[in-house]
Amino acid sequence: MLLHVADDDLFALARRLQDALRARAPGETLWFTAPDPDRRGLYEGEPTPDGRHRSLAGWVMLAEELGATLLTPQPAGPGRVRLGLRRLDRDASWQTRAAPSGDPEKYGADSDFARIRKFEEPPFLFAFARALDFVDPADGARVLALGCNRGDELDALCRLRSDRTFECHGIDHAASAIERARTLHPTMTFLTADLQRLDAPPLAEMGRFDLILALNVLHSPSLDGKAILQRLVAEHLTPAGAVIVGLPNVRYVDHTLHHGARVKGFSHPELSVLVRDAAYYRRYLARHKFRVMITGRHTLLICARPLPGRRG
Ligand SMILES: C[S@@+](CC[C@H](N)C(=O)[O-])C[C@H]1O[C@@H](n2cnc3c(N)ncnc32)[C@H](O)[C@@H]1O
Repeated sequence: MLLHVADDDLFALARRLQDALRARAPGETLWFTAPDPDRRGLYEGEPTPDGRHRSLAGWVMLAEELGATLLTPQPAGPGRVRLGLRRLDRDASWQTRAAPSGDPEKYGADSDFARIRKFEEPPFLFAFARALDFVDPADGARVLALGCNRGDELDALCRLRSDRTFECHGIDHAASAIERARTLHPTMTFLTADLQRLDAPPLAEMGRFDLILALNVLHSPSLDGKAILQRLVAEHLTPAGAVIVGLPNVRYVDHTLHHGARVKGFSHPELSVLVRDAAYYRRYLARHKFRVMITGRHTLLICARPLPGRRG
């Protein structure tokens, strides 16, 4: 028989669903009926004659917390819908099969990571657009993307600012990703290189840039992200140059996005490392005469543009 959800508050509901989901194998679905989530003008859990209101967004958030994904609701009689929670399979997450941190091909063209399209994730695209509004790169700007993989952020920059042209450069140590980037973006320049070697050619000879993007790379345990940013600001940024640093606040469970990055030694998402790093980058950039803005949900984008009179 289908579970019937009506008046349970969230304490009782979460426990009931959690117990029922635990009894299912990964990939299996728990079906139940619930009040229609499309009713207007109600807060989460507000009582109604048909049971407590839960919006579709509320169900999606609950599914995420329960390690499940919500299936598309179907009508189930007057004022009710049939909902399905499919238990996620943690072993299907791309990181479980990934090469160790520091392996150049961990994010290569043949890795599972290569299937992920960050700019198809609405919070990422919109946060990046806000970041570009803030740093506002000028027509003709020289732009460098660190850990650019197949160059998606450079492509997004050109599409979001299609009224301007940019001289785009990307660096990554995954040779296969760089090969892919060159095929996809033949007008851009890509280099296979290790960011730990910024002090040696060819990286040391890259010159200066008007905008440096470092999205989801400086946090890598195999890199000293803080030292890299310091060197970039001192030696590779023009006096009027801007910076966008992205720090992940997300992990992929099965194939779905979950708020909060994975931290070694913790089974649950843990924010103290992210908060510490974001605070460091914000403070460092503010001290070096940048105006700093932080935006983004699944990736925190720390955006810095020069204050008037900044000389590098
Ligand atoms: C999580 S991916 C992020 C890719 C892209 N920037 C994005 O936000 O979708 C990290 C990228 O940084 C690259 N990377 C990691 N360590 C590196 C290093 N030491 N030198 C160069 N690239 C590195 C990886 O190969 C990978 O493409």
